[in-house]
Amino acid sequence: MISLLSMSTSAASGCLIPSGATVRSALRCNATSSSSYVEQLKSAREDIKVLLDTKYCHPILVRLGWHDAGTYNKDIQEWPQRGGANGSLRFEAELKHAANAGLINALKLVQPIKDDHPDVTYADLFQLASATSIELAGGTKIPMKYGRLDVSSPTQCPEEGRLPDAGPPSPADHLRTVFYRMGLDDKEIVALSGAHTLGRSRPERSGWGKPHTKYTKDGPGAPGGQSWTVQWLKFDNSYFKDIKEQRDEDLLVLPTDAILFDDPTFKQYAEKYAEDQDVFFNDYAEAHAKLSNLGAKFDPPEGFSLDDTPAKGLPEKFVAAKYSSGKRELSDSMKQKIRAEYEAVGGSPDKPLPTNYFLNITYILYRYVSYGSDCNIKSC
Ligand code: HEM
Repeated sequence: MISLLSMSTSAASGCLIPSGATVRSALRCNATSSSSYVEQLKSAREDIKVLLDTKYCHPILVRLGWHDAGTYNKDIQEWPQRGGANGSLRFEAELKHAANAGLINALKLVQPIKDDHPDVTYADLFQLASATSIELAGGTKIPMKYGRLDVSSPTQCPEEGRLPDAGPPSPADHLRTVFYRMGLDDKEIVALSGAHTLGRSRPERSGWGKPHTKYTKDGPGAPGGQSWTVQWLKFDNSYFKDIKEQRDEDLLVLPTDAILFDDPTFKQYAEKYAEDQDVFFNDYAEAHAKLSNLGAKFDPPEGFSLDDTPAKGLPEKFVAAKYSSGKRELSDSMKQKIRAEYEAVGGSPDKPLPTNYFLNITYILYRYVSYGSDCNIKSC
């Protein structure tokens, strides 16, 4: 098997073509015109937006882009041996690296978009999905460019061990070793760590985090895990505020997060980002764009810009019920009231009572509003 998903190789071009795709798959290797490629990218971006609106998978798509790019080694000149944003993460050989546990689910989410836009390379698709996720979560607009080429074989995947550990003996030294190897500096380490404002850690994947917390037990998406922030689908500077305070046991602080307020140089940036979201957004956007280009080989070398990407997304109030149902909002106080009524008669809103008509109607409403839509891909 070439990759975890069904792929075949075009004898003529050497390009990987998803089974069932047309010969257009090979065009990116040959002569896809610039305007047609930009149109494909824009169309793929629309599909990513729909995916995000239905699956709430922003965090795992950000992680997908980061883990494809973050294998870059600036001391190796040759492409693709130098690693980086080259689509190698689609191959089983790399997906099974311990650091990538769970990312097969991100690949499954974006593969249908790849199938519908065969000219768009995986390398571009992963970075497009990540940047779009940040923007749609209310984050900053990232000055992206596209045109990355894909590696064509799992033999071109980087060796395991290029991504950071969450609990190394000396977290500051470790972060510097790993990120300096990518050509990134202290400011960029701290800014990029702020991506943990999104998402959760799951013990069954990385080994870090609680199985669930009060912020994750109901999803949205697959319930569970431990988030760094309360509103973990909203991109803002709360990561820095929360790890500075470390007051909420339901919020995660990895050793590599805690060090951002202990190391004197990291701390200057972390304090600034906790105070001023605009400064964080500016630094994050620059660092994210740089990360997304690491190791990439662009065709044409200057890349393509999707200039008319929507301006900075407006931060939206996070309402879990809204995200999980997509239908209607039930306020937290209303949920608590319903729960209290059930508990008063010895029941719970998670199960209907055989005899109470009023509460059973309330139960139906509660289930409808809280769990109205399902995220049938368990990982997002
Ligand atoms: C600084 C070193 C870093 C370490 C040690 C680290 C470690 C981790 C760990 C252990 C998880 C939990 C994975 C799981 O259990 O599913 C995680 C999740 C995540 N990481 Fe990082 N990470 C780092 C940097 C970054 C960077 C630079 C980005 C993006 C720019 C990023 C974005 C994310 C996101 C969005 C998630 C949530 C994924 C989800 O909810 O599915 N991380 N990271």
